[in-house]
Amino acid sequence: MFITELSVNGFKNLKEIDIKPHEKINIFCGQNAQGKTNLIESIWLCSGARSFRGTKDKRMIGDDAQVMDVRLRFKNSFREQEIRYAMAKPNIKEKNVSLNGVKLKAPSKLFGELNCVIFTPEDLELSKGSPDKRRQFTDLSVAQIRNSYNAVIEKYEKLIDQRNSLLKSINWGKGRREELEVWDVQLAQMGAYISLMRHKYIEKLGRYAKELYSEISGDREVLDIGYLSTVYGRGELENAVDYKEELREKYLEALKNGIEEDIRAGFTQKGVHRDDVVCRINGNLVREDASQGQHRSVALIMKLSQAYILNEEIDDYPVILLDDVLSELDPSRQKFVISKIHDMQVFITCCDMNIPFDEKQHGKIFNIDKGQIKKK
Ligand SMILES: Nc1ncnc2c1ncn2[C@@H]1O[C@H](COP(=O)(O)OP(=O)(O)O)[C@@H](O)[C@H]1O
Ligand SMILES: [Mg+2]
Repeated sequence: MFITELSVNGFKNLKEIDIKPHEKINIFCGQNAQGKTNLIESIWLCSGARSFRGTKDKRMIGDDAQVMDVRLRFKNSFREQEIRYAMAKPNIKEKNVSLNGVKLKAPSKLFGELNCVIFTPEDLELSKGSPDKRRQFTDLSVAQIRNSYNAVIEKYEKLIDQRNSLLKSINWGKGRREELEVWDVQLAQMGAYISLMRHKYIEKLGRYAKELYSEISGDREVLDIGYLSTVYGRGELENAVDYKEELREKYLEALKNGIEEDIRAGFTQKGVHRDDVVCRINGNLVREDASQGQHRSVALIMKLSQAYILNEEIDDYPVILLDDVLSELDPSRQKFVISKIHDMQVFITCCDMNIPFDEKQHGKIFNIDKGQIKKK
């Protein structure tokens, strides 16, 4: 799919942006703090996912604006659609979000329409940082291809918080143990489902990633990526056909067996909220041993694999957003990334023009200055 029109007004420092992006490569070029990332963020907003830089609602409308209004048209092989995301001061809770003119209950209802894969400099730490980054990556990726997944994750997170409060109050002699059972039956059902979905996703991702990595490393290194469960042992998820029977029972058992320790610790120690995605290069743990360059390659490849899986599942390429990433890479990695996304629409931000592609043939450059597109 690709974006055919984008207009943005009053989102952060952006004013009167009105562009018709190129089907392939689009470059947002400009000095620091001019609004390049904001523009990427305005596209991302329309994907229905939470802000990748954690922008609060009240910071979305520009300081000297009363209204923010983002309109975006995008096209896939079937049709062209229109997304609108608007809100006005002071009622920022009342967002006006619509798809093809039909008002939606919440921005999250946009999820699954405009599919984007984003790379930010922070993402280059994906294989290095804490497990919650990799869980977030996996959850977002699964949600992109499974409509109902997000709701389960949200419910699981709420329940785990409630269970943890109960554990603490039992520890203080107030709460009742019997109440745990009610939570645990529900947690086991959801936990088994999440484990299986994530495991299957990572299995597929691992296959794409292995191939890409052997290419980027010139066949010298082998990358293995796997899902590491705190509940299930080796092979248990691989062989499962369904989350409802054995997997659910094992999850419940793990929760039950952990109750004493959980009460002592004051939180639930086993479960999908503590799982991880483990990467190895030639058998060695990436998180512990890899060089900076290897981390970058692994992170890039995980994201590229995410884009390929989307294409496989929805039969359409996602839109790629590269925020300040190319400039962080050496020329060979730059070339590699560009070569892998040349079939997709890409938005790239940068400060200088050292981009390894030919503008006239493949794309458009937009110069951004103080939140506006500068006329050439
Ligand atoms: N709510 C807001 N209202 C007005 N300006 C904002 C708001 N939030 C952020 N900004 C401004 O946006 C600019 C940063 O834009 P950004 O897109 O991150 O820049 P860059 O071009 O470096 O990627 C800063 O000047 C910041 O002050
Ligand atoms: Mg930026």
